[in-house]
Amino acid sequence: MSTSQSVFRLAKRLERVGFSDIVNIRNRIMELRASGASVYQFEGGEPFLNTPESIKQAMTRALLENKTRYAPSSGIAELRAALAAKVRVRNLIPARDEDLIVMNGGMHGLFGAFQSTVNPGDEVLVFSPFWTPIKDLIAHCEGTTVLVPTTDARRDGLGQTLARHTTARTRAIYYNTPQNPSGVVFTRAEAETVARFARERNLIVIADEAYEDLVYDGEHVSIASLEGMIERTITTFTLSKSYAMTGWRMGYVVAAEPWMTGLRKTLLYSTNGVSTPSQWAALAAFTEASSLLATAREAYRARRDLLIAGLNDIGLRCLPPAGAFYAFPDVTRIHKLSRAAAEILLDRAQVATVPGIVFGEHGESHLRFSFSTSIEVIEAGLDSMRRRL
Ligand SMILES: Cc1ncc(COP(=O)(O)O)c(C=O)c1O
Repeated sequence: MSTSQSVFRLAKRLERVGFSDIVNIRNRIMELRASGASVYQFEGGEPFLNTPESIKQAMTRALLENKTRYAPSSGIAELRAALAAKVRVRNLIPARDEDLIVMNGGMHGLFGAFQSTVNPGDEVLVFSPFWTPIKDLIAHCEGTTVLVPTTDARRDGLGQTLARHTTARTRAIYYNTPQNPSGVVFTRAEAETVARFARERNLIVIADEAYEDLVYDGEHVSIASLEGMIERTITTFTLSKSYAMTGWRMGYVVAAEPWMTGLRKTLLYSTNGVSTPSQWAALAAFTEASSLLATAREAYRARRDLLIAGLNDIGLRCLPPAGAFYAFPDVTRIHKLSRAAAEILLDRAQVATVPGIVFGEHGESHLRFSFSTSIEVIEAGLDSMRRRL
């Protein structure tokens, strides 16, 4: 007979899966605000803009036209065709319409990608510091995350550094560009090096291009566009950052077989598809709202330049991030432990950030500041730090 201890126990598969540290930080800020304190918020990970009107109107239209029933399980044909055209033209990925699947946001696409490729005991190479949910997605497959320090890799050579971390159990490389939290944008030469390494070692690449439209310096190169890569790359995209649609849960993935079958099964048995009216709304992003991307990018660039100049001025050393919307300065001047540095900043200057350690050991001694906020908040936050640090 089973004891209550073995009955009331989470399935083993989920035991190693963690919960986001960022949620705890958000709770602390909410407490502070509830007690009447004003907090300059730089800890977020969302666009400061609202969803474009044309997308919201397309949603209203879809509802009025009763486009509210089950959609084809991989997505409505019109949206898949528009997405396939977008990835062919903008990402130069030689995808056919059937290589596209609509998913519930970037996280869902990544979940499907890891579920489709990683077996228990497999190792996945992850450039670090990294967006931490990746470790949990890999843990959910009972795989192991192997961290590859990005700064060392860019200095010593990506191929050589990846080789040092590769074993007989290595199955895949998680390749995120532009990177969260560092803002690093891998160059074309670096993408080619990683692609060559993946081909030589017969590895799968899981590409995360959530911030593809937020590149300020250099170019965005989709690794699946490089020769011989479409068949071994699963590329995940999201509308969250490009179109300020974090709450809509809308994303898509490009992959060949057998990965597409894995993604279709994951989608079917996790959410049974993606909201039909939201898919019609998403279609407007690609048919009507694309021109907004350049305007948004310039608004982010102005915020980036303001924040970076101010941080360097205060002595928080930081190069301008080439992409995404985060600054990731070294904060040893405040405290060498990033959790302590974040506390000090919050207590003394009411400036909320995310401790770098949250993004893995290579993020220690840094803080992540999002510049996806108003110019006024950036100016006021910098002023508060200048006076109180
Ligand atoms: C690097 C990276 N990938 C993927 C995502 C997933 O975004 P979403 O699930 O909102 O599409 C995020 C969100 O913060 C991210 O930072």
